[in-house]
Amino acid sequence: MKIRANEIDFREVVNSWYSENKRDLPWRDSRDPYRIWLSEIILQQTRVEQGLPYYLRFIASFPTVFDLAKASEHQVLKLWQGLGYYSRARNLHHTAKEVAYQMKGVFPKSYRELLKLKGVGEYTASAIASICYNEPVAVVDGNVYRVLSRYFGVDIPINSTQGVRYFKELAAQVMDTRHPGDYNQAVMEFGALQCKPQLPLCANCDLQVNCIAFQLQKVEKLPVKLKKNKLKKRYFNYIVLLDQQHTLLEIRSKKDIWQYLYQFPLVESKKNLHVEELTKKEDFLNLISGKSYDIRLFNPKVAVHKLSHQHIYTKFWIVELKGSIPNGILRKNIKEYPVPVLIANFVKDFGF
Ligand code: ADE
Repeated sequence: MKIRANEIDFREVVNSWYSENKRDLPWRDSRDPYRIWLSEIILQQTRVEQGLPYYLRFIASFPTVFDLAKASEHQVLKLWQGLGYYSRARNLHHTAKEVAYQMKGVFPKSYRELLKLKGVGEYTASAIASICYNEPVAVVDGNVYRVLSRYFGVDIPINSTQGVRYFKELAAQVMDTRHPGDYNQAVMEFGALQCKPQLPLCANCDLQVNCIAFQLQKVEKLPVKLKKNKLKKRYFNYIVLLDQQHTLLEIRSKKDIWQYLYQFPLVESKKNLHVEELTKKEDFLNLISGKSYDIRLFNPKVAVHKLSHQHIYTKFWIVELKGSIPNGILRKNIKEYPVPVLIANFVKDFGF
């Protein structure tokens, strides 16, 4: 990565902006790793205004790492209540016990060693190491991504593999290694108060002249974030009803994938179902309507059908009815019906 003409200007301006504009926050006059760790774990979760009362309550209840270690999990979770991501509270408690009982209350003294603590990732380790021990490791959080992408005009998506690597290097390159703790907090504070996600205060910004996004009128467009579609897991149980000559198909009428295609009657569930669970489901019982039957699973290895937004875990249950199927179709005609590939494959494998 080449040195940029405006990078020196960047750290000088951010540092002096910080000395004039920083908020007076209770952890800012401390270099105690317990306090910094606690504040950063909370702030990872939430914005400063919302996190502050939590920090104050934690410090009041547990002034030292020993006090937190001695607390019950119930107490810790209660104090955390409302912050969300409760596994973070459990990790916090776990690490407090580890530091208190296995490290005699002394936090690890370097970025590398801090990273080994449960719940301490790159972000928290950089924050603690830079603020408490002056180690020149750059923090990269949402604020940092935003400020750097705008000032340096970088449109690589921040949540792409390439983006993560690029911004980590850029952050390390432009950081003020003489005052790493203040510098890291300065960029975060600048992102929180000045270079805000919405309505950033560009009109009175000290970085305006060299800010590439401002000059190119791209401030609102940066940073770029890829929309990662959340992958949904669905569990389909197809009920392949059989009598002497017939089977049953239904049409997919709901606004969903495969609308208007045919399928075997479907029991969809939130999780993988075993036979005992399936045969208690209302949809299944309605289908059988009191007749006696034999059931077996055709594919013990669940078939996974992958679509762009969802993975469909499918089981085909062969249900032989004693008696006849009302409204059944002749089995030998099944290939005439339009069906999803998933069902077509089954029809072939089963040998209708
Ligand atoms: N956000 C998270 N940690 C912060 C810190 N130390 N200063 C400013 N903003 C923050």
